[in-house]
Amino acid sequence: MANQAELGQFFTPTAVARIMADLVHLPASGTLRVLDPGAGSGMLSAAVVDRVRRERPDVQVSVTAVELDQRLWPVLADTLADCAAESGVRTSLVKSDFVQWALHTDERFDVVIQNPPYHKKGVSILVPVGGG
Ligand SMILES: C[S@@+](CC[C@H](N)C(=O)[O-])C[C@H]1O[C@@H](n2cnc3c(N)ncnc32)[C@H](O)[C@@H]1O
Repeated sequence: MANQAELGQFFTPTAVARIMADLVHLPASGTLRVLDPGAGSGMLSAAVVDRVRRERPDVQVSVTAVELDQRLWPVLADTLADCAAESGVRTSLVKSDFVQWALHTDERFDVVIQNPPYHKKGVSILVPVGGG
């Protein structure tokens, strides 16, 4: 199993996750589909869900969290379960390499929230945080 440096595992502090979640454009209604690639413990997803529940209680949230490291799956599953305990929140844990998964999924998202692994992957994917 790869180590922390190889997987670029530097986790986002709560205060920074909240700032990032504040950058997301929230819809007035409907469903916000969130992708969290390299989700770690799920901190970023949790911050988005927390903000949506406070500011847009009628908006549904769908979170897809992708994480490669099996050591993080239990804590990530716990975080997603906490999110899903909120009304109107659905979550999905993808236990996979993000790039391999992304090449084959036909899921689509309104927002990508990410603190990327800090090493060269040989491919760059630039995604905006926040929609429209
Ligand atoms: C910088 S950490 C950020 C974790 C979390 N999103 C946060 O903000 O605290 C990057 C995460 O990406 C995961 N990761 C690294 N390479 C990956 C890959 N190819 N596919 C999925 N996850 C990956 C690491 O295991 C780690 O949890």
